[in-house]
Amino acid sequence: MTEQKATNVHWHDGEISREARCELMGQKGATLWFTGISGSGKSTIAVALEHTLHQYGKLSYRLDGDNIRLGINKNLGFSAEDRTENIRRIGEISKLFVDSAVFALSSFISPFREDRNKVRELHDESGFNFIEVFVDCPLAEAEKRDPKGLYKKARAGEIKNFTGIDDPYEAPGNPEIHLHTDQMTVEEEVSVIINYLKEKGFLKEI
Ligand code: ADX
Repeated sequence: MTEQKATNVHWHDGEISREARCELMGQKGATLWFTGISGSGKSTIAVALEHTLHQYGKLSYRLDGDNIRLGINKNLGFSAEDRTENIRRIGEISKLFVDSAVFALSSFISPFREDRNKVRELHDESGFNFIEVFVDCPLAEAEKRDPKGLYKKARAGEIKNFTGIDDPYEAPGNPEIHLHTDQMTVEEEVSVIINYLKEKGFLKEI
């Protein structure tokens, strides 16, 4: 649990409510949280989903492990503590996007169940929607894809604490959406997500 360090700080509400922002945007937003091992397809699906949502007239914004680690989280590595802090910060950032009525498409390995559940709780507390998408791919398949050549390096001992090799990945127990990316095309995966969003009323005009 991260302690509150600053004292004498208080939340300050503005005059425009979240409802008013949603009405202005014609959407209510949600966090779609993509979790899975490196090379499972998280970022690829998020990019394709962003495109489809755009065509539906819905604004989304991608938050992606590598990109975020080049910026706001450049001071974090891959120890368990740093991964936890990485996810905590992204959870808070995702929440800000949802508060502004935007769909946050957050793609992070997020290997620890407890860290993901904390992000879910953070959303629940504010009445925001958190949709966990398990991007499920067998290690052997991800290793075969090895888009960044990182598994090869990890196997050679050149990268330590690599998820799936010498660091754990805890699969979600009860994700809202479960995609088997070794058996589906990206188009199929996007349509499963779009159907879910339609069913839950996220793509309606509001
Ligand atoms: S997380 O575990 O903290 O959620 P995150 O998704 O931000 O990880 O970053 C993972 C990306 O960092 C991978 O896609 C890969 O490109 C790169 N990476 C570099 N070192 C490691 C490592 N030791 N374990 C996992 N990914 C790593």
